[in-house]
Amino acid sequence: MSSIVQGIGKISVFGLGYVGSVTSACLAERGCNVIGCDISEEKVEMINAGTAPIGEPGLDVLILTQLKAGRLRATTDPAIAVAGSDISLVCVGTPSKASGALDLAFVETVAEQIADAVRAKGSKHAVVFRSTMLPGSTRKIATRFFGDLIESGIVEVFFYPEFLRQGSALADFRQPSLAAIGAWAEDDGIDSIECVLDEVADCVPLESAELLKYSCNAFHATKISFANEIGRIGKRLGIESRQVMKMLCDDHRLNISSYYLRPGTPFGGSCLPKDVSALCQLSRDLGVSLPLMDGLLDSNRRHLESLIERVEAKDCKRILLAGIAFKAGTDDLRGSAMLELAARLLSKGYEVRIFDPDVSLGNLMGANQKFADANLPSLETFFVTDIVSALAEGPSILVVSKPCFDPDALDDAIPLEAGHHIIDVNGWDALRNLPASYEGLCW
Ligand SMILES: NC(=O)c1ccc[n+]([C@@H]2O[C@H](COP(=O)([O-])OP(=O)(O)OC[C@H]3O[C@@H](n4cnc5c(N)ncnc54)[C@H](O)[C@@H]3O)[C@@H](O)[C@H]2O)c1
Repeated sequence: MSSIVQGIGKISVFGLGYVGSVTSACLAERGCNVIGCDISEEKVEMINAGTAPIGEPGLDVLILTQLKAGRLRATTDPAIAVAGSDISLVCVGTPSKASGALDLAFVETVAEQIADAVRAKGSKHAVVFRSTMLPGSTRKIATRFFGDLIESGIVEVFFYPEFLRQGSALADFRQPSLAAIGAWAEDDGIDSIECVLDEVADCVPLESAELLKYSCNAFHATKISFANEIGRIGKRLGIESRQVMKMLCDDHRLNISSYYLRPGTPFGGSCLPKDVSALCQLSRDLGVSLPLMDGLLDSNRRHLESLIERVEAKDCKRILLAGIAFKAGTDDLRGSAMLELAARLLSKGYEVRIFDPDVSLGNLMGANQKFADANLPSLETFFVTDIVSALAEGPSILVVSKPCFDPDALDDAIPLEAGHHIIDVNGWDALRNLPASYEGLCW
């Protein structure tokens, strides 16, 4: 762990738009010595005159106060900004190109300017990217412009996503909804940039912090589109959709919670596929376009395909599926993605066996039995009751969808040389320690 900055920080902020001007003023308020830098002379002059270059409630007053306190100024000269600071925050725009792809030209220009200025300054400097960039961008840009400076320990690079919302930006900066800092290497310390961080910031790899920002925005966009689609179908049916959504939001156990938000098994069961399908059919009948809902079943199918691809990538034709009911603690096979996986792999010539202590074949009946018969006839012929003996028969791909066996029993009974592969579909960490190669479905 290095320590570049002692006490309060001397910080330069590149880009004085919606993010940069708020960041500059709020860091100055925190006691940092801040110099903003922008190519726009007008924005720089406004800050130096104590006015906000963008419309944001409270920002004018804050900028004026910090200017008067001598903690905030601005320049158009990147060399002056870097020379007067130990940390540079990059807050320039990352717009879309005409193709929709991300345009990193502003970030690249600033990175080059900071690199030149750090070389001229000749002392340690931390560069913290705050502009929203796709996973891998920070490392690529930093390698290109700071590669030698990072190697010689002069420059440290971080990605610190910004989550403020325009209109409540000051309050969001002072109390962020989420804070995570991406570091270059796992053992990189963040003490050098502590003065710019929220104290609860989690330290993760650069790329995780970059993906986090996109995940949040995509999630927000999904929420808005979802509510709007319920609104459109509600309006068409004469139903007060705001009341429906309000009640949906009142459920903090399943709806507004972390439930259903872990990457893992495709959804299944007797309700979700059927009900999504019915809602989409109704919307088509009514001529109401619901592309988000329409995409759900496709997305789920695509997820199962990715599991099949994971299996096919292994050089092994013997499969043991651990967990076939659609989720833990039930014997319901309706809509089970694992049952479909078994059927698909059988049709591809795999030797398939199934282990699931929750499913008692003799007790299957009604719609459950019908679904099994339709999708995997003679289900009983694939079932095994002893997972250790099944694995002892030879190298297998063990596809595990739920905790349904004792990992210690496997650990004791199966030698590493047996050559088994584990594909973990639902994130059961105990599987990582078993005597087999391990791969998560989407981690
Ligand atoms: N606006 C938001 O609410 C928000 C929230 C979180 C993250 N972000 C992300 O933060 C980044 C900045 O967004 P913004 O809304 O503040 O953009 P903006 O367009 O308001 O501001 C960008 C500023 O960068 C300046 N600039 C361009 N090239 C420069 C250079 N070479 N040197 C110095 N300054 C330069 C521009 O003149 C402009 O003032 C984007 O990546 C955006 O996606 C924005």
